[in-house]
Amino acid sequence: MARKRLGVGIVGAGFIANFHIRSWVGVRDADILGIVDPHEDRAVKSARVARSLGVGDAKVFKSVTEMVAEPAIDAVWICAPNFTRLEIMKEIVNAVESGKGELIGVACEKPLGRNVAEARKMLELVQKAGILDGYLEDQLFTPAVMRGKEIIWARGASTTGRPYLARAAEEHGGPHMPWFWDGELQGGGVINDMMCHSVETARFILTQPGADRNTLTPVKVNAYTTCLKWQQKQYAKILKDTSKGTLDYINRPAEDFGRALIEYRDEKGQTLVVECTTSWSFVGAGLRLSLELLGPEYSLAINTLDTGLKIFFSRNVKGKEGEDLVEKQNAEMGLMPVVANEESEYGYEAENRHMVQSFLAGKRPDENFSDGVNVTELLMAAYMSAEQDKTVPFPPPGLEKFVPAVARGKWNPMKNK
Ligand SMILES: NC(=O)c1ccc[n+]([C@@H]2O[C@H](COP(=O)([O-])OP(=O)(O)OC[C@H]3O[C@@H](n4cnc5c(N)ncnc54)[C@H](O)[C@@H]3O)[C@@H](O)[C@H]2O)c1
Repeated sequence: MARKRLGVGIVGAGFIANFHIRSWVGVRDADILGIVDPHEDRAVKSARVARSLGVGDAKVFKSVTEMVAEPAIDAVWICAPNFTRLEIMKEIVNAVESGKGELIGVACEKPLGRNVAEARKMLELVQKAGILDGYLEDQLFTPAVMRGKEIIWARGASTTGRPYLARAAEEHGGPHMPWFWDGELQGGGVINDMMCHSVETARFILTQPGADRNTLTPVKVNAYTTCLKWQQKQYAKILKDTSKGTLDYINRPAEDFGRALIEYRDEKGQTLVVECTTSWSFVGAGLRLSLELLGPEYSLAINTLDTGLKIFFSRNVKGKEGEDLVEKQNAEMGLMPVVANEESEYGYEAENRHMVQSFLAGKRPDENFSDGVNVTELLMAAYMSAEQDKTVPFPPPGLEKFVPAVARGKWNPMKNK
């Protein structure tokens, strides 16, 4: 008999876990019942948030195994840092295979792996254990992307021809925790961290509604990376100081700017282009996500900082710094855009609804680990292209074992000057 309600356990109680918990007020038929984090204080705090929002009677567990063994937990959301992905997935699979617990599904935050080998291993493990898999790419589920795709395809593409160019960008002033800046721990720089969103959202909106991702075939990739801001002495010092000396951007930087162009063919042989840029060197009001779609007789544009709500504070308003107006906020004064419901507008609500309903129905989510693997393959091809300073065919030879120079601590654009 199909299950009516899903008990969810979250691994990692940091920034993104709390976004998911807050989004849960818009998710039906599921409760957040467990949280694990080696920093127990964070788990306790997140559990309190879940309870206070009425989205689940969340308990703090000591380990992933203990949480999976709890009969009320039916699915796990992996929200821990990139460098812990495989150890967490292995622990989940061990707990299930040894009969300690049962799970219907696992949903994993982006990126699925730091490189192709890791992402493919995640897919292999989940399939070996017979667990359903969801890849958490929130931006496909943003109301503007979902509605925009529906309208463009229904009215424009059906009468005048398919869209042929998607441009996507994600930019902000840099991540909130030191591990994101460390090429080895994170897997790369801003390309791995943020272009994962742009390549997938652009691919998704170029794909006919309901069609499989295989209807578009990547043909070649051209990319460029550099470090524009954070290798400058005064900014490298900020990173060193805020990471207790672990980050050394003079000698071991990661890229803070990247662009990639991916050429696709559709089933009829038509050429399609995805153009992405991303940076940790953008100082504006806060996080800016933008997307454009171009077709023969139409276009679409989204910019998350073009908000309906704007607030003005004169220079006499003095308050403390915060992210209460917009994610990665940079100022508290002047004319400020406000994203009124970030959990919905960035897609977390609809994403979690989709994952929950798929798991309850015993169906593999539309966005799953196979998509996560393909995103990683495209990003690694982008790093290869940037390192070789040339366009690479897709898939490029050696992709399965490739680890970007930035993830090996061997990348430094200053050295080549
Ligand atoms: N979809 C998005 O837009 C988005 C945004 C931010 C982060 N993310 C992804 O979410 C993941 C977490 O990012 P974050 O910003 O929340 O990071 P974070 O550093 O704020 O939080 C991570 C939490 O995981 C905990 N943790 C570390 N090792 C763990 C382990 N072995 N088991 C359980 N918990 C562990 C840490 O103590 C910390 O509390 C990353 O993979 C990141 O790429 C996605």
